[in-house]
Amino acid sequence: MLAAVGLSILLFGSSPAFSQSTAPVNKGLVAFGYIPANARDSTGETIGGIGSAIALKPGSFTKAADGTFKGTLVVQADRGYNVDVTVDYQARQHHVNFVLTPYYGSSPLSFTDAANTLKLSYKKSILYKERWGKATTGLDPLSTRPAWTIDPILPVPDIQTKNQLSVDPEGLVLNRDGTFWTSDEYGPYIYRFLSEGTLAYVIKPPTAVIPRLGGAINFSGEIDPDSGRASNQGFEGLTASPDGHKLYAMLQSATMQDGGTDDKTSRYARLFVYDVKLIPKLIGEYVVPLPQTAKKKKTLAQSDIHYLDGQKFLVLTRDGHGNGDDESLSDYKSVDIFDISGATDIHGTQYDNSTAVSPGGVLASDVVPATYTPFLSLIDGTQLSRFGVHNGGNFDQQLIAGKWEGTALASCKDSEYPDDYFLFVGADNDFNTLDGTMVGQPYSTSYGQDVDNQFLVYRVTLPMVPRGSIG
Ligand SMILES: *[C@@H]1O[C@H](CO)[C@@H](O)[C@H](O)[C@H]1NC(C)=O
Ligand SMILES: *[C@@H]1O[C@H](CO)[C@@H](O)[C@H](O)[C@H]1NC(C)=O
Repeated sequence: MLAAVGLSILLFGSSPAFSQSTAPVNKGLVAFGYIPANARDSTGETIGGIGSAIALKPGSFTKAADGTFKGTLVVQADRGYNVDVTVDYQARQHHVNFVLTPYYGSSPLSFTDAANTLKLSYKKSILYKERWGKATTGLDPLSTRPAWTIDPILPVPDIQTKNQLSVDPEGLVLNRDGTFWTSDEYGPYIYRFLSEGTLAYVIKPPTAVIPRLGGAINFSGEIDPDSGRASNQGFEGLTASPDGHKLYAMLQSATMQDGGTDDKTSRYARLFVYDVKLIPKLIGEYVVPLPQTAKKKKTLAQSDIHYLDGQKFLVLTRDGHGNGDDESLSDYKSVDIFDISGATDIHGTQYDNSTAVSPGGVLASDVVPATYTPFLSLIDGTQLSRFGVHNGGNFDQQLIAGKWEGTALASCKDSEYPDDYFLFVGADNDFNTLDGTMVGQPYSTSYGQDVDNQFLVYRVTLPMVPRGSIG
C-alpha cells in the first residue's frame, strides 16, 4: 500500500509539469493500542474518558535507529463516570509514555500483536485546581459564582455549599512554557492552567455562546438552554498555531439559536479564533458546516479539531455507535478537513449577540461558511481488520469504541516523505468498566461491560502543513 502511494508521488515529482500534490493522502492505519478499562491512576481512581483530548508533550517524540518511535501523550479525562449522574471528580490530565512500532503489512495481525504496535504505559497525573488550591469538580453546575476581579461569572454546583469550579474538559493545548489550555462544555469556557495544574486565566466567549435559560445564565449540562451552546455541545475542539499565539475553539454543533435544538438543523457550528500572545482577544469567528447522515440528514457533531496551516484544519466528526453504545455498527467516523480561507469572519458583528447566524438551521445569506472535505474514515473495515479490530458485530474487546474524540499529529521524521505525519486518535470510553473506583467508591458501570481506552495511529501525507512546524 505504501509502495503504491510512494510511486505516485515519484511520478508527479519527476515531471516539471506537476508541482507536488497538495492533496492530503491517507496511507492507512499503522498502529493500535489501549489502556485497559480498569486501569487506575496514581490517586487510585479509574483512568477513563481520556480520548476526549490528546496531545503530544512538546519535544518528547523521537525516532530510534530501529524504526520505532517513543514519546509522551498527554491525555485529558472528561468529567468522570457519569453514565447515571455527574460526580465530584477533579479534572486531570495523565502523562502516558508510548512506544510506536508502525505496522505497514497487509496480512492481519492477531489482536494481541496489534496491541503491541502502540504500547502505552501510564506515568503520572496532574490534577486541576483553582488559584487557592481548591479542586475543580465534575458535578453539574446548577449555580453560578459572580464575576470577580479578572474572572467572569463561573459555573459551580452550589454557591452556598459547593462553591467549586465545575469543569467538563474536552479540548487540550500544551504550550511550550509548560502552561496549557483546556476547553470545556459547561461554560463553555477556555481555561489556562499553570504546568502543575493551577488555574491562571479564563476566556469567556461572546454572548451568543453563553447558555441562558429564562433570561438568566445557566451552565447546567442537564438541560438545553433557550440560547447559547446546547447542553453537552460545548467547546469539543481546541487547537493552536505551532507558535502558540493563536488559539482556535469550536463548538460541537450549532448554538440553540442557530438550530441546535434538533440534530436535523444543528449543522452550523462556530469556530472562534483568539490571539493569546498577551491578554486573550477574539480576532476571528467562522461558521463550519458539519456533515449529515445520508438518509435521515442528522448532523454528525464534531469532537476535535487540529491546526494544519491556519486556514485548513482537521476535524473529527462521527456518530456514537460502537463499543460504549447500544448499537455496535457505526455508519460514519471520519477525520476530515475544513478550510476557512473563503469564509466570512463574523466576529464583532450582531451574530456575537443574540442574532442567530443560522436560525432553524438555515444560514444567513450574508455569511459564507467554511468549505468541508471528507478525508479519512476511521471505520474502514480493511484497515481495522489488519489490527484485529472490527466495526459492528459482537460487543467484545475487539469492537472499536463509539466515541473517538481526540487527535494529535507527529512528524514521521522520514526524509523521503517530509510531509508525512502520524495521526493519533483517542477514544472516550465514558469510564465504562466493571471494576472501577471513583471519588473513593468502587463502581461497576451500568453499561454492563468494559470499554478500553483505545487509540488508533494513521500515517497521512499533509502537504499543506508548513515543513518543520510539527515536531
Ligand atoms: C438552572 O436551571 C435549573 C433547572 O431549571 C435550576 O434548577 C437552576 O437553579 C438554574 N440555575 C440558575 C443559576 O439559575
Ligand atoms: C452587542 O450587545 C452589546 C450589549 O448590549 C452592545 O453594546 C453591542 O453594541 C452589541 N454589538 C453588536 C455588534 O450588535
